[in-house]
Amino acid sequence: MEKKPHFVRREFLPREVPSISLALLLAAVLLLNAFLYLYLNKFYSSLGRVETEPGLCPFGHFKFGAVKNCSPWLSCEAINREVRKLKCVGEGAVKKVFLSEWKEKKVVLSQLTNSELKEDFLHGLRMLKGLQSKHVVRLLGYCEQQFTILTEYHPLGSLRGLNETLHIPKYKGMNTWHRRLMLAIDYVSVIRYLHSSPLGTLVMCDSNDLDKVLSQYLLTSDFHVVVNDLDALPLVNRSAGRLVKCGHRELRGEFVAPEQRWPYGEDVPFEDDLMPPYDEKTDIWKIPDVSNFFLGHVEGSDIVRLHLFDIHAACKKKDPAERPSAQEVLDTYRRF
Ligand SMILES: Nc1ncnc2c1ncn2[C@@H]1O[C@H](COP(=O)(O)OP(=O)(O)O)[C@@H](O)[C@H]1O
Ligand SMILES: *[C@@H]1O[C@H](CO)[C@@H](O)[C@H](O)[C@H]1NC(C)=O
Ligand SMILES: *[C@@H]1O[C@H](CO)[C@@H](O)[C@H](O)[C@H]1NC(C)=O
Ligand SMILES: [Mg+2]
Repeated sequence: MEKKPHFVRREFLPREVPSISLALLLAAVLLLNAFLYLYLNKFYSSLGRVETEPGLCPFGHFKFGAVKNCSPWLSCEAINREVRKLKCVGEGAVKKVFLSEWKEKKVVLSQLTNSELKEDFLHGLRMLKGLQSKHVVRLLGYCEQQFTILTEYHPLGSLRGLNETLHIPKYKGMNTWHRRLMLAIDYVSVIRYLHSSPLGTLVMCDSNDLDKVLSQYLLTSDFHVVVNDLDALPLVNRSAGRLVKCGHRELRGEFVAPEQRWPYGEDVPFEDDLMPPYDEKTDIWKIPDVSNFFLGHVEGSDIVRLHLFDIHAACKKKDPAERPSAQEVLDTYRRF
């Protein structure tokens, strides 16, 4: 009789031990999972884009940061009530740009500065609304009556500051030919998107010199490029024979495409009505200069330049029709 419990216990013990350790193991795995989940979640929200692709929200809505739900764009009332201006972080011809706070998050409030440029401002807003995607700065709200736009804040600022950004210790590791080529790929992806956008073929007209181009794009914290300023973005409609002109003034210099310059020589004074219109291939002409800026002068960037020589030469064809499309440029960049 005494044997039985003993026997039972002996049989019982080796079974219980593995079931206890199994339970412990399971608990450990679950705990590890929970940690990984929390960690990855934090990691992704610090990247900011993975979870918060604007495409995931229906039109008129946004989400960003760690917030899971889509919220409707902020209205005039919500902006006036909930957004607090902190300081001016930028100014262009059309807007003054304020770093601001909304629900303890950093956001950007842009305000029209020159009432003569209302139309440009409203066009930019219309484009921002219609082009929300990974290529375009995230719209959080707007107030047409007060000419204000609320967007996501990008602390690294415009691409104009790329050189300086790449020299601060935290980002030195990003200063490689590979990262720099990725930025060029991003930039051409934006152009490709604008040239075949949901609103039609759009030309990035705010681009008469390199500095101007760079100031219209922002560098995200995870080192991607988004376009921010869409005020000067006219529509080409080939089937309707509709072409564009970037402004009404004479353009000069090597940066702008040849077809953007006055064609009738110094003896004929410039007259806007006589200036022939053109199409989106002006953006293609500018790609090699912008890409050269991105590539900079680091180890390996000259090799990349060499590989891109032919496609860049094609972008600089005098005849716009002979230049490649943004898609073709992008394909060549990606093949590298
Ligand atoms: N969301 C943003 N985050 C950080 N900086 C910004 C943001 N929006 C604008 N800026 C800064 O303000 C500058 C001017 O903004 P922009 O929209 O181009 O105004 P404008 O239409 O007057 O040219 C940009 O070049 C950039 O340096
Ligand atoms: C281009 O023009 C045609 C003819 O006028 C029109 O039907 C079409 O909607 C236009 N496309 C865009 C993108 O505006
Ligand atoms: C950035 O640095 C490159 C050299 O690496 C220089 O040629 C270029 O002019 C600089 N651009 C700006 C906008 O500071
Ligand atoms: Mg601008």
